[in-house]
Amino acid sequence: MIIDCDPGHDDALALLLAVGDPRLRLLGVTTVAGNQTLDKTTRNALRILALAGVTDVPVAAGCDRPLVGDLVVAENIHGASGLDGPDLDGPTGTTVDVHAVELMRRLIVASDEPVTLIATGPLTNVALLLRLHPEVLPRVGRVVFMGGSTGRGNTTPYGEFNIVTDPEAAGIVLNSGRPTTMIGLNVTHQALATAEIIDGFRALGTRLGTVCAELMTFFASTYRREFGFDHPPVHDPIAVAAVIDPALVETVAAPVAVELTGTLTRGATVVDLHHRTREAPNADVAVGLQVDAFWKLLMTAVRNLG
Ligand code: BDR
Ligand code: CA
Repeated sequence: MIIDCDPGHDDALALLLAVGDPRLRLLGVTTVAGNQTLDKTTRNALRILALAGVTDVPVAAGCDRPLVGDLVVAENIHGASGLDGPDLDGPTGTTVDVHAVELMRRLIVASDEPVTLIATGPLTNVALLLRLHPEVLPRVGRVVFMGGSTGRGNTTPYGEFNIVTDPEAAGIVLNSGRPTTMIGLNVTHQALATAEIIDGFRALGTRLGTVCAELMTFFASTYRREFGFDHPPVHDPIAVAAVIDPALVETVAAPVAVELTGTLTRGATVVDLHHRTREAPNADVAVGLQVDAFWKLLMTAVRNLG
C-alpha cells in the first residue's frame, strides 16, 4: 500500500502503524498540503520515518494546494510546525525527485498485486493520479480515506477538514469507479486518546512511545481549546487499521456525494444510508469501530518499532 498524508499528529500515528505492523507492505509515502503547508507536511513525514528507523521507503512531495481555491491550514490544531509538541530531530532522509503523483504511478505499475491507497489528508494527489493516469485505475485495489462524516463536521457544521480542504478532489475519488472506504468522523470520534491510553504509550519506555504520548498530549490541548473535547480523537490511524484488519471497522455500502455548491455546506459528505437517492453505492462507509482492539493494534505496532 501507499500512504498519502499531511502530518499532522494523527497522520504521524498512521505512519507508525503502517511501518510497525508486519502485515502491511508500505511501498511509498506521498505528502500533500493540508494540516500545514507542503514543505512542513513533507518534512514531518520524513522526521517520523527517520524516528521509526525507516530508510527504505520512498517519500515524494505532491500538491501544495487544493485543486480549486486556496489552502487553509489547521495550525490551530497541529501547531506552527504541523507536529508541535515533541522535540523531534530534523529529517535524515530526503524526498525522491519526482512529484507524488508520479511516484504513486510508478509504484502501482511496478507492483505485482493491486495497490491500496490510504489517504489521511486532502485527496488532491489521489484525484490527480486517477485523472492524469486512468490506466492505473484497474491496479488500484481500493482507496481507503480518512475524511467526511455521516453526520457532524469539524471544520464547518457538516464539513470535515480533509474534504472541506479539497471537495473537488474528494468527488473525483468517490466517482472514480474504484472501491473506496470512507473512515469518517462518526467513527474516528470513538478513538479517544484518554489519559490512560497516553500513559500506556509512555509506559512502553521507548523514544517512540514517548513521542506518541507527547503527540497525543499536544493534540489533547488543542482539541480541548478548539472543540471542548475531554480527550482528542486520533482519526488517521483508523484508516490504516481498517486495511490491516477489516474486522475492526464495520462498514455499510452506500452512495456518498460531496457537496460542491452549497452555500453553507460545501465539502459536506452526503451519505445516503437510507437509500433515498436509489443510486448505486460508491463507498463502504465506516459506521462502527472496535475501539479497544484498535488501540491494541496501534500500541503493538509502536512497541514493535522499539
Ligand atoms: C482530519 O483532519 C486533520 O486535521 C487530521 O489529520 C485528520 O486527517 C480530521 O478531520
Ligand atoms: Ca491528516
